[in-house]
Amino acid sequence: MNETLNAAIENTVAQLRQRLGARAPRIAVLLGSGWHPFAEQVEDRIDIPYAELPAFPALAVGGHSAVLRSGRIGATEVLVLGGRKHAYETGEADGMKGAIRSLAGVGVQLLVQTNAAGSMDEAMPPGSLMLISDHLNVSQRSPLFGEPGDNRFVDMSNAYDPALRQSVKAVAQAQGTALHEGVYVWFMGPQFETPAEIRMFRNFGAQAVGMSTVPETIIARHAGMRVLALSLMTNMAAGMQDEKLSHAHTMATAAAASSRAVALLSAAVQALEI
Ligand code: HPA
Repeated sequence: MNETLNAAIENTVAQLRQRLGARAPRIAVLLGSGWHPFAEQVEDRIDIPYAELPAFPALAVGGHSAVLRSGRIGATEVLVLGGRKHAYETGEADGMKGAIRSLAGVGVQLLVQTNAAGSMDEAMPPGSLMLISDHLNVSQRSPLFGEPGDNRFVDMSNAYDPALRQSVKAVAQAQGTALHEGVYVWFMGPQFETPAEIRMFRNFGAQAVGMSTVPETIIARHAGMRVLALSLMTNMAAGMQDEKLSHAHTMATAAAASSRAVALLSAAVQALEI
């Protein structure tokens, strides 16, 4: 299994080197729900479908999101991943392992993740933005199950890079964009949480809940990359709002808030020193 994955990564790295030529992006941005308009801001585009990169996942949603886009935001070179494979699709947390290791293989040093999340903090209503300071892996699944070697014992303190978080906060302040900071719970899904689960997570000291991001953070830290992550609140979590939770509602709120989210992300990517 690992040999197959390693061969796919080698092949993917070789293809990316060839397609990117002299380009040497050090930042990759992984887009979650609500963040897709960011890809429209990329200039000098080269688009590579995931399907042409053997270490990249097949995405259930397919379409435009299963594309790796190379280009520039201002003067900053980036690779933009249009979508991720979620653990709730298969029960496995390692769906993005090949993709992220391939990014590391072509010299990417920072993975900037984005997602949509449910808010567990009344001070953070739908439409709010939150910088992830830390996470709770309540699912207790790891993309590193079966990984050989002592480097599988990854240090997860400061997984969300403290110095880079400071830079993002400075950018938000300069823009006049309200940016919260807090702990994200990875709930495997695909069903939403129960109100009792949300009460438990709040008691655990978390502010946001979602179904992604944490596996990718673990993979990236294991691969020696730095990580940043931004959440867009699309709803109050279960039991905290009268409205019924639905994917359609999540997507509609995400669409309404996405221009502010994308403006912050664009400015942040250009300000980061990597
Ligand atoms: N729970 C889990 N994932 C989510 C939510 C939520 O309330 N909102 C958006 N993604």
